[in-house]
Formats: sequence, C-alpha cells, structure tokens
Amino acid sequence: METKIVIAVDGYASCGKSTLAKALAAALNYIYIDTGAMYRAVTLYCIENELDIDDKEAIDAALQQIKIHFEKIHQKNTTFLNDRNVEEEIRKMYINERVSEVAAISAVRRAMVEQQRKMGKQKGVVLDGRDIGTVVFPGAELKLFMTAAINVRTQRRVDELGAKGLVVSDEEVRENLIHRDHIDSTRADSPLKLADDAIVIDNSNINPNEQLAMCLALTTQRISTFMNKPE
Ligand code: DC
Repeated sequence: METKIVIAVDGYASCGKSTLAKALAAALNYIYIDTGAMYRAVTLYCIENELDIDDKEAIDAALQQIKIHFEKIHQKNTTFLNDRNVEEEIRKMYINERVSEVAAISAVRRAMVEQQRKMGKQKGVVLDGRDIGTVVFPGAELKLFMTAAINVRTQRRVDELGAKGLVVSDEEVRENLIHRDHIDSTRADSPLKLADDAIVIDNSNINPNEQLAMCLALTTQRISTFMNKPE
C-alpha cells in the first residue's frame, strides 16, 4: 500500500506557506488544509456578529454556531462559513487586522485544532499554519518551517492584494505583518515556534518551483525512512 504521511507547513505570515503547501498537495495528490482560513472565518463571524472577543461565554456560544468547510471550486480551495462562500472576504485587510487576536483565544484554538485533527486523521494531508508541527500534529512525519525577509514578504502581500484590486501601502502591510508575527509568536496558547525536528526553508531568494522541488525531495526521503522503519 502507498505510504501517506502528514506534512506540516508552519511559519510567518506571507512567507509562501500556502503556495508551497498547495503545490505539494497537488503534486502528491494529498489534501490541502488551510488552517489560517479557519481562524479568518471565525474572525469574520465575530466581526459580523459584533462579538466582544473578551466575552468567553459569547465566544463559546459562537463556536457552537460556526461550521467551516472547504470545497474545490474551479480547482481553487474555497472556504465556507456556515455554507456561505467567504473565501474572498476573509482575505481582506480588516480581517488581517483582527485575526491574530481571535486566533489567540484558547476556546477558538481548541475548536479549530479538534477539526484539523479530524481532517488529517487519514494522513495524506498538507496543513499550513502556525502550530501544526508543534500542537496539531506533533507526530507529523515532515515538518517545514518557512521564513523570508520582511521586505520580500511585504512585497508579496502587496502584490497579492493588488491583484485583487485592493490598494494598500507598503508601510501598512509591513506593519501588519510585523504586528501579527509578534502576537502569533508571543501568545500564551500554542505560539508560533520552530519544532525541534522542523526543517527551516528561507525562500527569500528561491522561486516557488525551486522550493517545491526541494520539498518534494524531502518528502520522498521521509516516506522512504518511514517505510523502512522497523516495527
Ligand atoms: O496563514 P494566515 O495568514 O492565513 O493566518 C491567519 C492568522 O491565523 C495568523 O495571523 C495566525 C493565525 N493562525 C494560527 O494562529 N494558527 C494556525 N494554525 C493558522 C493561523
């Protein structure tokens, strides 16, 4: 039987995690799970329902109402919040500005992690996030940790938003990335950190194809290690 593994792709905001994770999943015929999209969808719900994020009871009640799922539409991974397509909305700047606060709430993390573990139970998955290799799947067979220079990340995010017709200044984007990384790395619950057994990929100076080739080679290596592991 073909050996399938769990691949964790963690790292900073706008480091090309999703580009790599999607490409890996497509090349390996694995399922891609965008865990950041789940925190973004919860953030959208909180904003639309004017929830006070410090109100634990309101958050617990909201989590009972929130159903998130993914569908492939025109080959594109698409996020649904309570059966509504929110893929475009959750990428907007006002969500970027609030998502780290919402993702720091323990009840929110517990609920999302539970769903992520269910989705990845069968293996053959690539998950992109911040705590996949440390918390969600600490036993993931391959853990990649992505990083890139801040100016490179800023330019990528500005271009990405620009392609969607959203005009933002470099400064605004840069500040938001730094702010989010700070909250994500210093929060008490499951902060973004390098797992001991993760491989760091700095993609400041390599293109997506080079990055994919490198990570596919690592995947093949890992699969053969696990296949040959004595029982
Ligand atoms: O990867 P992204 O930019 O779409 O993630 C949005 C936010 O969600 C990010 O600022 C941190 C949070 N996040 C998290 O805390 N844990 C994850 N596994 C994924 C994302």
